[in-house]
Amino acid sequence: MNVYDLPIRPRRNRRTESIRSIVREHSVSSTDLIQPMFVCEGNQKSEAIVSMPGIFRLSTDLIVKECVALFELGVPGVALFPAISDSKKDKKATESLNDDGLLQTTVRAIKAAVPGITVITDVAMDPYSSDGHDGFVNEQGEIVNDVTLDILANMAVSQARAGADMVAPSDMMDGRVGVIREALDDHGFTNVGILSYSAKYASSYYGPFRDALSSAPKSGDKKTYQMDPANVREAIYEVELDIAEGADMVMVKPGLPYLDVLRAVSEISNVPVAVYNVSGEYAMLRAAAEKGWLDYQKAVLEALLSFKRAGADMILTYHAKEAAEWLKSK
Ligand code: PBG
Repeated sequence: MNVYDLPIRPRRNRRTESIRSIVREHSVSSTDLIQPMFVCEGNQKSEAIVSMPGIFRLSTDLIVKECVALFELGVPGVALFPAISDSKKDKKATESLNDDGLLQTTVRAIKAAVPGITVITDVAMDPYSSDGHDGFVNEQGEIVNDVTLDILANMAVSQARAGADMVAPSDMMDGRVGVIREALDDHGFTNVGILSYSAKYASSYYGPFRDALSSAPKSGDKKTYQMDPANVREAIYEVELDIAEGADMVMVKPGLPYLDVLRAVSEISNVPVAVYNVSGEYAMLRAAAEKGWLDYQKAVLEALLSFKRAGADMILTYHAKEAAEWLKSK
């Protein structure tokens, strides 16, 4: 065997697991994870979501149980999305302002049972909108920015009143962070934070989520408000605006197809950066695993690690609970 004159051998740092652990740059912990959850009406209700195996729409009582389990596993936060029946949807998302609505009731129940868990609520019209859009749709079919802002501000205040720790506008209307901040402050909710979906793309990876909430747009698409997948400079612009308007945290969404955006945002942001590992990304790994085409657990943990490597401080992911379980037993 020839021994070549190779003074530099990077493999030396990979030789044993303990050396690898010493030189490891990034890691995922359960405290990085936030579990998105779908809440539905009823009691003891658990409805499977066909395109998201392993994820269920849960009634409030079961959501509370799940929050107890998540918090014990070290998952510090949940993001809630309500599945509203079609009969309660209208053009102005009126039900979203109901202080005794499904979402508000669930927030109260969670905070009563698990006061320490961080409850993040979604601020956007689509779960409540008969048009399936994140903003108000006028007769010409346009999404009207400033009419929407009033609704979003009132929605955020109602969620804060219910006890939300953080409100998360996912609508991509211009100026909403500033308007929501002002409304929260005017109502005395100066401690309620804003996690802004700052760089949210018009992505095809939201399909399973829209199945879960029956919230797909009735007509048109979301391209006049969600970002063009071709753009990255614009993501920086959106993030800078949201920080200037008072966002406490900013988000990039989706995750895996936008790791470059996440990296760019994390390099310029002065506030913590979140990434949303969305429903379609979850469905892809689940589907491949069901076919036996990859090792599910390893693939999930590798995906989560990629977000940390790209600069995320926190990860909204449907894998949160299972990942926390795996990390605990490691
Ligand atoms: C809508 C909203 C969407 C998601 C979170 N909030 C879908 C959309 O914009 O149509 C998607 C999340 C996911 O796919 O997991 N306000």
